Amino acid sequence: MRALVTGANGQVGRELVQRGRAQGIEVVGLDRTSLDITNAARVAEVVSGGGWDVVVNAAAFTDVDGAESQSDAAFSVNRDGAGALAAACSQAGLPLVHLSTDYVFDGGKGQPYTETDPVRPLNIYGASKAAGEDLVRENNPRHVILRSSWIFGAHGANFVKTMLRLSAGGAPIRVVDDQWGCPTAAEDLARVVWDIAVTVVAGNFAEWGTFHYCGAGAISWYGFAQEVLRMAEGSGRAASARLLPIPSAQWPSAARRPNNTVLDCTRIAECFAVEQEPWVEGLREVLLAMAVENRAEDSSPQPLPQETRG
Ligand SMILES: NC(=O)c1ccc[n+]([C@@H]2O[C@H](COP(=O)([O-])OP(=O)(O)OC[C@H]3O[C@@H](n4cnc5c(N)ncnc54)[C@H](OP(=O)(O)O)[C@@H]3O)[C@@H](O)[C@H]2O)c1
Repeated sequence: MRALVTGANGQVGRELVQRGRAQGIEVVGLDRTSLDITNAARVAEVVSGGGWDVVVNAAAFTDVDGAESQSDAAFSVNRDGAGALAAACSQAGLPLVHLSTDYVFDGGKGQPYTETDPVRPLNIYGASKAAGEDLVRENNPRHVILRSSWIFGAHGANFVKTMLRLSAGGAPIRVVDDQWGCPTAAEDLARVVWDIAVTVVAGNFAEWGTFHYCGAGAISWYGFAQEVLRMAEGSGRAASARLLPIPSAQWPSAARRPNNTVLDCTRIAECFAVEQEPWVEGLREVLLAMAVENRAEDSSPQPLPQETRG
C-alpha cells in the first residue's frame, strides 16, 4: 500500500510516517514546505500524480489561542486546505483519512459525544475544523473523518512536555481542573489511522463517514498533569513541582474551551474493530522514549496549564 501523509512534520504526522513504515506501508510524508495544502493546484498535482492508494491529512492550523486572532489562516488551512485535498482525492478516486478534533463540540452534553451529535464549536479553531469536516464530506464521499482529543507524543509541542518542563523549574504549577477529556497518544492514533487505511484500501469495511477515537479513560487536565508527574518520577525524572488545581475562569485565554469533550468510540469499534488503548499506557511509552532520546525539544518556552494545541 502506498500512502501520502500531509503535515508530516507535526506530532501526529511524524508518528504516522514512522509507524506506517515500520508496518511495511510505503509512506511518503510531505511537510508544509513540500506540500502546502492551501495551494489547491499543487495539492491536485501531488494527489493525482503519486500512484497513491490512500491519502491521510495530518496538516492543520492547531494553535487554539492563536486562531482567535488569525481566523483567516485557521480557516485557510483547516477548511479550505482540507476541502482541496478532499476534492483532489475525489478526482483521483482515492480515499481520504482526515483528522479532526473534539473541539467541534461545546462540551455541554454531560455524556460522551457520539458522531451524530450536532457540532457547536466554542472557538475559531473548532469552527475552522468543523467547516473542514463539512467540505471533506461534500467533496469526497470516500472519506473517513477521524476526530480525536488531547493528543500527546514524543514529537512537537504538547501538554506532557509542557508539564515536564515546568516541573523541572520546581515552582507550583496551576492546572485547570474543570475541563475533562480523553488524552490520546499520537503513536496510538497513528496505529488506528493505519488500521483504518489498510481496511478501506482492501475494501473490507462497513461505512465511510465520521468516527471518534481517543485514549481510554476520562480525566481533567489537572488529573492528567498529576499522572504525568507521578509517572515521570517513577521513571527517575525529577518532577517534584506541586500542582494546584484551578477553575478555567482563573486562567484567562484567548480561546474559550469546552468543559467536557469525552468521545464515545463505539462506532469505530463496530465498523473497524478498533479498540481504545488506555492513554496511561501511551504515556508510559512516551516518557520512556523521551528518557532514552533525552530530547532537546523540551526546552521551548510554553508555560501554559492546559493544552495549547487542538
Ligand atoms: N494536538 C491535539 O491535541 C489535537 C487534538 C485533537 C485533534 N487534533 C488534530 O490532529 C491533527 C494533527 O495535529 P497535531 O497535533 O499533529 O498538530 P501539529 O503538531 O501542529 O501538526 C500539524 C502540522 O500541519 C502543518 N501545517 C500547517 N499548515 C499547513 C499547510 N498549509 N500545509 C501543510 N501543512 C501544514 C504544520 O506545519 P508547521 O510545523 O510548519 O506549522 C504541522 O507540522 C490535526 O488535524 C488536529 O486538528 C489535534
